[in-house]
Amino acid sequence: MPKYLGAIFDLDGVLVDTAKYHFLAWKKLADQLNIPFTEEDNEQLKGVSRVKSLDILLSLGKKSYSEDERKCFMEKKNEDYVHYISQMDESEILPGVVQLLDQLRLQQIKIALGSASKNSGLILRNTKLQTYFDAIVDGNDVSKAKPDPEVFLLGAQKLGVPASRCMVFEDAKAGIEAAKQAGMLAIGVGTKKNLPNADVLFENLEALDLSVL
Ligand code: BG6
Ligand code: MG
Repeated sequence: MPKYLGAIFDLDGVLVDTAKYHFLAWKKLADQLNIPFTEEDNEQLKGVSRVKSLDILLSLGKKSYSEDERKCFMEKKNEDYVHYISQMDESEILPGVVQLLDQLRLQQIKIALGSASKNSGLILRNTKLQTYFDAIVDGNDVSKAKPDPEVFLLGAQKLGVPASRCMVFEDAKAGIEAAKQAGMLAIGVGTKKNLPNADVLFENLEALDLSVL
């Protein structure tokens, strides 16, 4: 019997390179607010919700704003972000993704999305990736953001697979933490520096060898 029966994928930075679009949209807001914001700072925003991302950005600039202003900043950022992702197509699927999804299907391993994003529907439609998923859980379905394990536990539940038989593919520290708290295998996609706590680490999905898991 195969050890893992379910595979849960983060979206941004694992299946598609949307991290660059999140960065560009946050950077525009940061510039407008005179907050210094680098790609290195952006690492802290990966995997966390939109609300938490804004908190982090404003704390970098040691700024505080009213609820209404914050709401307006998030709407602006999302408008810019949606403008970028509206133009995406299959060419923006990261290397190795389709091959891995095909392989998982062949092995009859169920596949779920476990993303913090509220924009996952548009990205999955534009890249035509949605047909691969047996279950989709995103930022519209959860009340607690990563590193809370809610998104992955709900994914496993929707797949009908026990958490201990699920593996999670993640590019963010908060996501690795969430997978571990869910009792799942936390597969890091990235560098040891950014993901020191991953159970297994691959530079990208092209480098992943399913047989070692
Ligand atoms: C995560 C990204 O997948 O989704 C974060 O890594 C982002 O950077 C979060 O803040 C929320 O995304 P969205 O699309 O709902 O703003
Ligand atoms: Mg991610």
